[in-house]
Amino acid sequence: MTGRFITLEGGEGAGKSTQIKRLAAALEKKGLTVVTTREPGGSPGAEEIRALLVQGEPCRWDALTETMLIYAARADHVKRTIGPALVANKWVISDRFNDSSFAYQGVGRGLPREFIRRIDSIVLDDFSPDLTLILDLDVEIGLKRAGARGGAEQRFENFDKDFHQRLRQAFLDIAARSPDRCVVIDANQSEDQVAAAIWSATQKHFSL
Ligand code: TMP
Repeated sequence: MTGRFITLEGGEGAGKSTQIKRLAAALEKKGLTVVTTREPGGSPGAEEIRALLVQGEPCRWDALTETMLIYAARADHVKRTIGPALVANKWVISDRFNDSSFAYQGVGRGLPREFIRRIDSIVLDDFSPDLTLILDLDVEIGLKRAGARGGAEQRFENFDKDFHQRLRQAFLDIAARSPDRCVVIDANQSEDQVAAAIWSATQKHFSL
């Protein structure tokens, strides 16, 4: 028996980090051991790569280089953090994972889906989340929330509005393509309502 792997996905400012804390607390109440992590990042090496990706001008990297950096970080993250935790029977919740690459680098930045699918299959070898919760939110509201956070990690937020509109649809398309793995959560509700929807989807998915 190994642990389970849950990912939260969505556009900017959807409230993933708050909801991950609440989901982790709910799972721990059930007696499970939970590791929370994030991408890009989640291991010391991948966090170094994160800084290259989320800081600076949008044009800093072309789409291909950006994708290779993200998958380099992901390889390290899986090898050093996620894999060992699952083997130790822990439940892992990651703030973003490979669906973000299909949305941001594929649909957002325009790399062919097949190209990402091939790198993904080389790096991850069919490893995939057990459950993906997609937090769906109006783009204007999300960008406003994300902008209010401020800080140096604004590179992706600084892509144009059309980029972000495409992302929203991309995540909905991913959910439609993988209905057994993905649940879309309406993130335009109160924090408590979103947490309740996430918990209900998680309990149902894993029969908790
Ligand atoms: P965060 O703001 O949710 O922490 O995520 C950091 C940024 O990295 C976010 O703007 C989306 C971007 N990203 C990608 O473009 N591709 C990916 O595969 C991942 C994991 C994140």
